[in-house]
Amino acid sequence: MAENLEQIAAEINRCQKCPLAKMATQAVPGAGNPKAKIVFIGEAPGYWEDQKGIPFVGAAGHLLDKLLASINLRREEIFITNILKHRPPNNRDPLPAEIKTCSPFLRRQLLVIQPEVIVTLGRFAMNFFLPHAYISRVHGEAKPVRWEGLDLLLVPMYHPAAALRNGQVMQQLQDDFQKLAAILHQEEKPAPPPEQTSLF
Ligand code: URA
Repeated sequence: MAENLEQIAAEINRCQKCPLAKMATQAVPGAGNPKAKIVFIGEAPGYWEDQKGIPFVGAAGHLLDKLLASINLRREEIFITNILKHRPPNNRDPLPAEIKTCSPFLRRQLLVIQPEVIVTLGRFAMNFFLPHAYISRVHGEAKPVRWEGLDLLLVPMYHPAAALRNGQVMQQLQDDFQKLAAILHQEEKPAPPPEQTSLF
């Protein structure tokens, strides 16, 4: 039988494949709509996520909620998760070995959800799909990618935590959410009928 998100979350909660599991309070598998058309992917749980077991519930999460509200998106409509499911000590960057060990969970989650649009928050999530891309060059652009048999529209964005530290990044992130709204609006429209060529 096909797996579901609860089964994957249960496995994540039991996972001891890397040392982060021993240091963290608990795992943060992800949250939201299992049938979401849009998935947001961050880097790793921070302090509050580690305390609560829910992604993006600290300061960066509050900003994310405001950005979502600015384009009329609610958390119940989307799915939010991270590249790493356990908090790295002192919120340090994920290590390549940790990404390699943990990302099969993300892969399985995405194959269950089958989203149409993936918004990556920060360079670690972006580099999972686009290993050579630079966030300063591609943020806010919708890139069609074929990934693991899925046709996805990938929209890389800056991480909300970076926006909290830098006013220019904040402005770019706000602008990118407006671009995302336009992309989603475009996605909703039915495909135009094939052009009619008159014989007369
Ligand atoms: N930053 C992330 O990348 N993910 C979270 O869940 C919280 C903060």
